[in-house]
Amino acid sequence: SFLGIDLGTSGLRALLTDAGGVPLASAERHYEVQHPRSGWSEQDPADWIAALEGAVSDLRAHPAWAGLRGIGVAGHMHGATLLDAQDRVLRPCILWNDTRSFAEAARLDADPQLRALSGNIVFPGFTAPKLLWVATHEPQIFAQVARVLLPAAYLNLYLTGDHVADMSDSAGTSWLDTGARDWSDALLEAGQMRRDQMPRLVEGSEPAGDLRRDLRAAWGLTQPVAVAGGAGDNAAAACGIGALHEGQGFVSLGTSGVLLAARDGYHPAPETALHSFCHAVPGRWYQMGVMLSCTDSLNWLARITGQRPADLTAGLAEIPPPPGKPRFLPYLSGERTPHNDAEIRGAFTGLGTETTRDDMTRAVLEGVSFGLKDSAEALRATGADLPHLFAIGGGTRSRSWLRLLATVLDLPLHLPAEGEFGAALGAARLGRMAATGEAPEVVLTPPATAEVVDPVTALVPAYAEAYARFRAAYPPIRAVQ
Ligand code: XUL
Repeated sequence: SFLGIDLGTSGLRALLTDAGGVPLASAERHYEVQHPRSGWSEQDPADWIAALEGAVSDLRAHPAWAGLRGIGVAGHMHGATLLDAQDRVLRPCILWNDTRSFAEAARLDADPQLRALSGNIVFPGFTAPKLLWVATHEPQIFAQVARVLLPAAYLNLYLTGDHVADMSDSAGTSWLDTGARDWSDALLEAGQMRRDQMPRLVEGSEPAGDLRRDLRAAWGLTQPVAVAGGAGDNAAAACGIGALHEGQGFVSLGTSGVLLAARDGYHPAPETALHSFCHAVPGRWYQMGVMLSCTDSLNWLARITGQRPADLTAGLAEIPPPPGKPRFLPYLSGERTPHNDAEIRGAFTGLGTETTRDDMTRAVLEGVSFGLKDSAEALRATGADLPHLFAIGGGTRSRSWLRLLATVLDLPLHLPAEGEFGAALGAARLGRMAATGEAPEVVLTPPATAEVVDPVTALVPAYAEAYARFRAAYPPIRAVQ
């Protein structure tokens, strides 16, 4: 059997599959994100380890556990886990949706070699500007940094005892030469970092090492278990739905919203605010647009109205009404694609005395869907072919949201038959390749489609018009904030 671990923003999910990759059992543990200040977002890595141990203790009851041969880890990307020379965590991990380092990011991004070598805008959420922030604001901590690990690589360290990271996750640091798939001395120097502070690089599907002997014993395993390089969660999700080639992609409704397309070759387009990263398998790359507050927008509305997110969407009909007047700009934590704007905040417009909570819920789902359309448009402009998309992530549980999103994107959305395992399934597949040496084309196949959610054709033109008004709202809202 194989184990896929998805270290997500709101919790960790562990998925056990059989030798052929069929899901057998999964376990989850949740943890918090701390927001000590506006725009800050942190987690204690000890919570990840506790969540992993908790999830493993559940899965050990399964009869297939004893035959475990490979493990893969997917993690939320860009987080800076700072370790001292004894591998002790120096401060809480600064997460992907933390925008405190926007000034440092802008400074790095102004140097043309940054985009040229990394293939991307230096977004405030990326790792390099975070380290410059720590250098300025926490110099005593910066001086002790012996290693910087991304969240997935921190779990790799826990599992193998070694500092190893994969290419897909490392591409989100602004320290990697994304085309060459290696740390860049020029980028490291620009970020005031050294090569010896970086983990060893492997491809996501290659072995990073073996499961530590003591952990093997503690987990009741007798045979050696391979640990794969792993992946950033989006590359892992692409592995889970078999997106390897041009024309294959997904939209993910998680804490972040992602619209991802596998590309043939490396076609960086930083001017579009798209992300161009290494894939988790050798010689491949992908592109994606990233929205910072996707299900987070709905969670926010639920929180301030004293509801659960599912209560808000439960009352909505599946077929959306024509677009209404209330509009929502989903920029609660700033935005990456298409604006690269850490300081913009969200807005409701068009509220009337007649506006109900359902209207506002619909406006939130619509605004998030429009934001994802921004990413689809940016991808199309770079020549990406998007005939259809798989839809994954927690937000896909809302049927009305799926139908609305299909209509806004004017694309059929496919729901994978294996359920919404996404990144955990992709991580298990990486664990399998690391253990067996099987080829990506054999293991990373698209799942069967359980169901296709089609656009509501009659409403497509009205939503296209509403989208144009959504686009027009950003500059004036920006101007008054
Ligand atoms: C991608 C990104 C997010 C996180 C969320 O660039 O920041 O999608 O990976 O888990």
